[in-house]
Amino acid sequence: MTTTSKPNPYPLHHSLAEKYRLDTQHFAFKHHLGGHNIVPHLSPAATSQILDIGTGSGIWVFEVAEQFPHAKVTGIDLSLPTFDGAMPAVENAGFIAADVNDGIGFPEGNVDLVHSRLVQAGISKDQWPEYFKEVFRVLKPETGWVQVTEPVTNPLDLATEDLPSASAFHEVISCLEL
Ligand SMILES: C[S@@+](CC[C@H](N)C(=O)[O-])C[C@H]1O[C@@H](n2cnc3c(N)ncnc32)[C@H](O)[C@@H]1O
Repeated sequence: MTTTSKPNPYPLHHSLAEKYRLDTQHFAFKHHLGGHNIVPHLSPAATSQILDIGTGSGIWVFEVAEQFPHAKVTGIDLSLPTFDGAMPAVENAGFIAADVNDGIGFPEGNVDLVHSRLVQAGISKDQWPEYFKEVFRVLKPETGWVQVTEPVTNPLDLATEDLPSASAFHEVISCLEL
């Protein structure tokens, strides 16, 4: 386990209340994905290593570890998850305390899926290219996946040439008169 004496870049404190908030939010995301935690199709038999960056309460790790019994599923976060009792005994689930701004301490080309959800508060704007370099470094070449979920803090950032001008998103933006 790695610990750091640098200031914590994440503004919310880990506590039981925060765990419950994150667990509830997790179920909302999962519902939005039709009851799934993972979007790409991964074969449980051929999947050996999954990482959850900024794991928070660790709920995603436990659920995915049960779904992928042959894989080691590791949650990385600035601190280890808070539990309201003993840590659930899921043999292939594990946690590491580390700041991913210092890199992802895993060997190259070994990971089937990196899941990264809502870590933006702890990754500075300048750090994102380095962050994704690290994510792609640890992924298995050709077959590795990254699944990222982050909010768009300024909706106008999306109302650009990235989306077709006839998209529903542009319609919403024009109604809002932003
Ligand atoms: C909003 S929570 C999201 C938790 C989880 N991904 C989820 O969706 O339920 C953000 C988490 O990312 C972690 N985090 C933020 N910056 C980080 C960093 N630089 N390195 C490791 N973890 C980080 C925080 O400690 C926090 O637990």
